[in-house]
Amino acid sequence: MVIELVVHGVSSDGAGVGRDADGRVVFVPGALVDERVAVTVVEEKKRHAVGQLVQVLEPSPDRVDPTCAEVERGCGGCDLRHASIDGQLRMKERIVLDALERIGRLSEHPAPTLVPLDPDGYRTTARCVVVHGHAGYRHRRSAEGLAVAACPVLHPGLEELLVDGDFSGVREVTLRLGARTGERLVLADPTAAAVDVAQDVVLVGADELEAGRRAWYHEEVAGRRWRISARSFFQASPEGAEALASVVGAMVGAGDGPLVDLYGGVGLFAGTIGWAGPITLVERAASAVADARVNLADRSVKILASPVERWKPSSADVVVADPARAGLGRRNVEQIAATGCAVAVLVSCDAGALGRDVGLMVQAGFDLDAITLVDLFPQTSRVEVVTRFVRGA
Ligand SMILES: C[S@@+](CC[C@H](N)C(=O)[O-])C[C@H]1O[C@@H](n2cnc3c(N)ncnc32)[C@H](O)[C@@H]1O
Repeated sequence: MVIELVVHGVSSDGAGVGRDADGRVVFVPGALVDERVAVTVVEEKKRHAVGQLVQVLEPSPDRVDPTCAEVERGCGGCDLRHASIDGQLRMKERIVLDALERIGRLSEHPAPTLVPLDPDGYRTTARCVVVHGHAGYRHRRSAEGLAVAACPVLHPGLEELLVDGDFSGVREVTLRLGARTGERLVLADPTAAAVDVAQDVVLVGADELEAGRRAWYHEEVAGRRWRISARSFFQASPEGAEALASVVGAMVGAGDGPLVDLYGGVGLFAGTIGWAGPITLVERAASAVADARVNLADRSVKILASPVERWKPSSADVVVADPARAGLGRRNVEQIAATGCAVAVLVSCDAGALGRDVGLMVQAGFDLDAITLVDLFPQTSRVEVVTRFVRGA
């Protein structure tokens, strides 16, 4: 049955939110705020439903042509290509404010600063599914893979790999590139034995990494060269890494006391912030720890190879924390508070986790005094938010 509704909000994954005639919430992927849309209900739960967009009856001024043939075919890679870039930023701001107010229960907070980034050809890492030897992405409405013939958000050097690579015998492939060095790496899971890619590419199988082989590429960010191993995390683009590091550095400020960099990865923040005091970096992944030791060799940074949960908080003036999507949670917030820090800078890549963590930080005695949304993933609903906390009086 087709129903009509008006979209009044946006969910954390970028879907439009409206209500049906009975007042039940309906999530509509692809619909924008203020649009009147016709939808077919495809999933019904007790308190909400999911609608498939059939027709936009009254479009939002933010609606644009997605300009990607693969989105038309159902590619689930970019879920906001139907909105203008300004419209996307407004949606993300709304997602962030909703998380702070609804999940974090904050009635007052600073207005977010928005940092836009180039929406085309930016991504330097792509995790792809493989369909009959061709790389692609998940389908928007199913777990099925969809081989793609183009991907406008990928850096051209990666797009070429995605389109031309023969990934026979592979289930999942990770394509990586140093945009400023030109170095490329392909990690094939479970094995790279039958993979055929361009000669310059460092090709490695998950089976080889298990057996002890090491493989990496390099990127240049903030005037420094970064070694990044096949499985080590790095930000989505060098421009994004620079923007994020600059926001974090400004929020950290200057000082010469101890600073702790939790979830420090290959050392991006420890290697770029202008902090004069001793820095301790905590990171769990062995490959990232090994990279950080190389990347930060010229800096006096103590690197602890440990899960944050097992780290014993040491006294610190400032704590920076950049966890994976699960966020900090109560235990990490208690650890941060136990350092006695006057300032904490949190980098969140999931709106729900952001809302919860901000609420926990406030409960732990910190005041939220700055919010910056760095648009690391244009064309998608993914948010990256930096928040600064100062210890309350
Ligand atoms: C979002 S990345 C941030 C890395 C770094 N700050 C950067 O900007 O490049 C999160 C990092 O946390 C690490 N990590 C995930 N869970 C962890 C845990 N429980 N303890 C320590 N590190 C963890 C990951 O390996 C990854 O390097």
